[in-house]
Amino acid sequence: MPIAITQDPVASVGLAQPPAQPLRAARPSKRKRTADATPTLAVPEQPRPAAAESKPSLRVPFLRPSPPRLSELTEGLVAIEASGVFSNYGPMNCRLEEGVLTRIFKSPGECLTVCNATIGLMLAIKQAVGWQPRGRYALMPSFTFAATAHAALWCGLTPLLCDIDPDTWLPDADAEQAMIERHGDAIAVILPNATFGNCLDLARYDRISTAHGIPVVIDAAASLGSVGADGRAFGAGCAHPLVFSMHATKSFATAEAGLIYSADAGRIATLRMMGNFGFGEPRTATMPGLNSKLGEVSALLGLAKLDEFERITLHRQAIYALYRQLLPEFEFQHLTGARTAHQFVPVLLPANLAGRVPEVVAALAEQGIGAGRYFVPHLAEQSFFQASCIVDALPATIATSRRILSLPLSDSITPADIDLVCSAMRRACRKVADAQAHTPRPMVLST
Ligand SMILES: Cc1ncc(COP(=O)(O)O)c(C=O)c1O
Repeated sequence: MPIAITQDPVASVGLAQPPAQPLRAARPSKRKRTADATPTLAVPEQPRPAAAESKPSLRVPFLRPSPPRLSELTEGLVAIEASGVFSNYGPMNCRLEEGVLTRIFKSPGECLTVCNATIGLMLAIKQAVGWQPRGRYALMPSFTFAATAHAALWCGLTPLLCDIDPDTWLPDADAEQAMIERHGDAIAVILPNATFGNCLDLARYDRISTAHGIPVVIDAAASLGSVGADGRAFGAGCAHPLVFSMHATKSFATAEAGLIYSADAGRIATLRMMGNFGFGEPRTATMPGLNSKLGEVSALLGLAKLDEFERITLHRQAIYALYRQLLPEFEFQHLTGARTAHQFVPVLLPANLAGRVPEVVAALAEQGIGAGRYFVPHLAEQSFFQASCIVDALPATIATSRRILSLPLSDSITPADIDLVCSAMRRACRKVADAQAHTPRPMVLST
């Protein structure tokens, strides 16, 4: 499976602190949702220590990254030392790729580890569009993380930012179609984001790709563990590359890592060479390349996570269902799959509090509850992307961004924590609504 190793092993690996992630979002929902069957609530036996990112003063921090404990991986670390292989698709990487393929995707195809999803996206986009792309645009939603746009820009493409569906928060099918009709051959690649682990309609992207000859690369950063409506792992059997993140803040938490899956084994073989400096022959570049390889210590973390991943995913799913049960008056994402790998719990504030998210977040913090604002500001609101992207009309993105915030979720969070968070959420919204009601409206003087 892996190609011959032609580069010297990497000697050391540093595990960085998880970087701060962006936050914020959107608008009113058209439909109520039902997906995500509720499994039983399983509280992990061993609560994890709070990570550096968690503020100690918070009773319930927003995220509590839980990579496997390095101190419990001595045996694997000794094995790495004994093997003398520290990178370059070594034994731990091979086991991780094989393990994810057989235990998560359970489908034909191949997996390729990468050092993070951002580099994975760059690699997959470059492979999809070729060295000299036929077009200059990368079609993507504005409601995504900076990495999606950065990856396209690094490939020399200009992001075309389109709107999202107001309910699923996935790229809006009509908006995408309109962009394809308007820009035609100038679109080099379509880069949909499976927002917050929600399942994209991959068959639709297949049809678009076939009809228009445009390659598709799926940004599935938060989707490892999500299951489609057909009961298969999200992406299973899909020939377009799907890029997943295994960052410490994701539910498949390591430190920094990512993975590309495709049902097209030939595509993965090419990506593997591209990720190793484009070496198609020993130490000879035969194609565009960079270094996207995952070190063996990081792969060991991935292997340990794989062992506990099903239990973690079920726990997170049960907690998510509890939130929805305890906050019936709030609007949640319309989930399209049979299961979502929840990273946190995004929710819309009531319409009368649109634009008041910062005050609600502050009111939650006063009660010891952490909250996040993911994908806010959305891409078209960020100065670098304003200067480097083309922006379509974004009514749903703007409306969603004005109301979205994300509530806490972690591997060790308990139902009692969720009670606290939900009560605090109600108090926070009431406080901000009361303050709003008592704020005198500016007087308009007519002349
Ligand atoms: C939508 C999306 N794409 C890409 C990435 C980048 O992932 P990584 O941190 O592994 O590079 C993220 C990270 O949160 C993300 O949310």
